[in-house]
Amino acid sequence: MLSTQTIKLVKDTIPLLANAGTQVTDHFYKRMFSHNPELLNIFNVSNQKSGKQQFALFSALAAYATHIDNPAVLSEAINRINHKHASLNILPEHYPIVGTHLLATLEEMFPNECTPEIIAAWAEAYGFLADLFITQEEGIYQQSEQKLGGWRGKRRFAISKIVQESEVIKSLYLTPVDGRQVATYSPGQYLAIECQVDGQDNRQIRQYSLSQSAKSDHYRISVKTDGLISSHLHTLEVGDEVDAYPPAGDFVLQTNQAPKVLVSAGVGITPMMAMLETLAEQDTQAPCLFLHACRNQNERAFTQSIENFKTQLPQLQTHTWIEADAQHEHSGLMQLNSLKPLLPIDDGEFYLCGPSGFMAFIKSQLIDLGVDQSRILYEVFGPHESL
Ligand code: HEM
Repeated sequence: MLSTQTIKLVKDTIPLLANAGTQVTDHFYKRMFSHNPELLNIFNVSNQKSGKQQFALFSALAAYATHIDNPAVLSEAINRINHKHASLNILPEHYPIVGTHLLATLEEMFPNECTPEIIAAWAEAYGFLADLFITQEEGIYQQSEQKLGGWRGKRRFAISKIVQESEVIKSLYLTPVDGRQVATYSPGQYLAIECQVDGQDNRQIRQYSLSQSAKSDHYRISVKTDGLISSHLHTLEVGDEVDAYPPAGDFVLQTNQAPKVLVSAGVGITPMMAMLETLAEQDTQAPCLFLHACRNQNERAFTQSIENFKTQLPQLQTHTWIEADAQHEHSGLMQLNSLKPLLPIDDGEFYLCGPSGFMAFIKSQLIDLGVDQSRILYEVFGPHESL
């Protein structure tokens, strides 16, 4: 355990970090990438350019320092980061690199305030968190490896089928080139794909929600043409190959009989497709509501598949909001008030996926309707932001 003195010294640094804002993490990333450019193959260069990841690390460190004497408060957030890290194959040897640049950043940015005593406290606290992360991430690696069809690290996959699901979304079916089975996963989890885009200096990894129930011989991801890697994936053809890491993620469908409400916008529909298909295959009796929002009819995906699930799931009810179509059953933004009698306010589980603005909007409506926050589960694409 960390001593009271270490905790105090770390906590006392918070105002300093908070005042400097993203300057600290900005300095940290610039420093780390100039000394260890190989890490540019692991980090999302687009997030670096937009400054989004800077903020995620900063808030994690600030939260850690705030709750350093009671890390249980952070266990959910830590679990989410561990899954993200494991999916990106972050290894124990990466931690001292991050630690070194972090401490050097504090010394360089705050030469007067960060005394050797404070630096030593941060070193101890970082080491404590790093040990925890390394242990938990090793647990995730072992679980992935021990599954039937499981593996650790990179595995080569060929694109075996491509389906255009809407004007902007394509499904890619990925079959391992070794011809062996693939590891099972929980609906809601994602797969990390690594590839090299022509004209880019570094390889890049991106995570995509698996968009169907677990199959033994292939995976399916459904990708919106958006951003560097997703746009590149849209150019690939059947037979082209990519590397993938084992499925991971903490946003998973709970296996119980509680009513399920799946709420998505745009390409946020992808984990919901995996959840819906799993519910249909499990012949669940639980009430099930599928709510989806998209911008226009051309961007609407999986319409027929969702209708087909109603044969196996007769209790399934669906509602779609088409923002730009005034003739549709629901148009404009998703308003849940009109569905109030259908919503399992007291005992349902609400799964949300879509742009963070959409999810914040839905979450506040659900809370106003009386849904307990603990039953609202969500997945953020890109660096995590609290809703
Ligand atoms: C993502 C914290 C160590 C690489 C993240 C996120 C947080 C975080 C909060 C965002 C998670 C989300 O979006 O849900 C930390 C903390 C660490 C640590 C507190 C130390 C104890 C490391 C190490 C590496 C690493 C050692 C590897 C060198 C990444 C990458 C991402 C990430 C690649 C994905 C985001 C991106 O590519 O921009 N980490 N991390 N992290 N972390 Fe860490």
